[in-house]
Order: sequence, then structure tokens, then C-alpha cells
Amino acid sequence: MYLLIPAAGMGRRMRSSRNKLLLTLLDKPLIAWILKAAEASGRIHWIGVICQPEDWVDFQEIVTNLSLTKPVHFILGGATRQDSVYNGLQSLPAMAEHVLIHDGARCLATPNLFDRCAEAILHCQGLIAAVPVKDTIKVVNHQTHLITHTPDRRQLWAAQTPQGFEVKLLQQCHASGRRQGWEVTDDAALFEQCQLPVQIVEGEETNLKVTTPVDLAVAELILRQRLGERLR
Ligand code: CTP
Ligand code: MG
Repeated sequence: MYLLIPAAGMGRRMRSSRNKLLLTLLDKPLIAWILKAAEASGRIHWIGVICQPEDWVDFQEIVTNLSLTKPVHFILGGATRQDSVYNGLQSLPAMAEHVLIHDGARCLATPNLFDRCAEAILHCQGLIAAVPVKDTIKVVNHQTHLITHTPDRRQLWAAQTPQGFEVKLLQQCHASGRRQGWEVTDDAALFEQCQLPVQIVEGEETNLKVTTPVDLAVAELILRQRLGERLR
């Protein structure tokens, strides 16, 4: 299975001076944790890291230090996540039929989640990992700050990555998105716009996206617990 890792962001909400994926979580940069999980997955055999040129040297050094057995390819990132994934799709080998896309910022995803998604995408056209939402979600008018309505929570799932797709279909959806100026924050949204089906795969509660400093602290707690359990 081919895996693309969008890792070309700036980390503005982290208020970090550079790419948040280079920040350290316990003893390793965020990007190293997810590369280790991809390495441990039984189904992934090709990894593409999408990043900005100014981070290439650091990313290269991290990959070298991890001594991975799987090939890691570096792909030039774009101005938005959507542009970065577009570049990633262009860089896949022509023989790639399916692809998993996983945000570098979701650095706690487990090898098991990669494996379950990699298996499931062989039986559908598109999928995302997701978990039922725990909060009650309100739809709010931007101007008045008044609630317009409360969607039924039983129908709401929080989208995560990995997201998996048939490569040709996702390439077509990205091309349509570019032509028509759709701006989306995940790849499933492009699939949906093209009226294509997207399956839900049960995600992981601990598969959080490290976005703000609080997320970094929570991620550290989760990792410490995992490592502690392994030692016991
Ligand atoms: N990403 C990317 N290319 C971009 C922007 C984001 O590959 N031009 C990646 C990020 O590196 C991250 C994932 O997409 O792994 C999810 O994005 P997000 O959490 O928003 O990260 P940042 O864009 O870095 O953070 P912020 O929005 O706070 O600046
Ligand atoms: Mg962003």
C-alpha cells in the first residue's frame, strides 16, 4: 500500500517558529513517530513525505536516523494541504491503484489503524478513519453568534486520517476541485463533492491532530502511557 504523508504546513496555531512536525515529543520529532508507525505496519510498502524545501534537510536527517527498511520519497509541498496532496498524487508511481493519505500531525496513529484502512480500501472506493463525536455540536451564525441549529449527535463523526482512495478517482476529484475552485480541508470532501461514496472505518480516540500546544501536552501523556504499558 502506498502512503502519502502531508507534512508541509507551518503550524501557525501551534505558534511555533517553524513546522510543528519538527517539534519534539518525548525524545523524537513528531514526524518520526508517524514514520515509525508506518514502518511497523504490515501493509505499507512505500512512503511519500510531502514537505517544504526549507524542511528537507531536517526531514532527511530524521529519516536517516530512523534506519527505516521502507523507501521514503520526498515530495514538494504546496501552499495549502489540498495543493500538497495534489502534488503527492502526481508523484505516485503509475502502478499505484490505492493510496492512504495520513496527516503528519496525527502522529499517534497506530500500525493497526494503517493496516485496517489498507485492508478496507481494497473493498471500497474511498474511506476515512473517524470516531463518533463526544460533544454536542452547534451550528452558529458567524455574524450574530446565535445558534442556528443543533445537528443530531448520533449522525456526527469526527473525521481523522488515514483516508484511503482509489488513486485514479481521487486524482479526478482533485482535478475537478482545481477547475471549480473548491476549497476543502480533507480529501473525503472532494470525493463527496463528486458524488462518490466514502466509507467510515472506526478510528482511534488517541489519533488526535496535534494542532495547538495543548494537543502536544496531551499527545505526550498518551505516549508516556503507551510506553509505560509496554515496559510493564
Ligand atoms: N499540510 C501540508 N501542506 C500545507 C498545509 C498543511 O502538507 N500547505 C499538512 C500539515 O503538515 C499537517 C496536515 O497537513 O500534517 C494537517 O494540517 P494542519 O494540522 O492544519 O497543520 P498546519 O497547516 O501546519 O497548521 P496550521 O493550520 O495551524 O498552520
Ligand atoms: Mg493548516
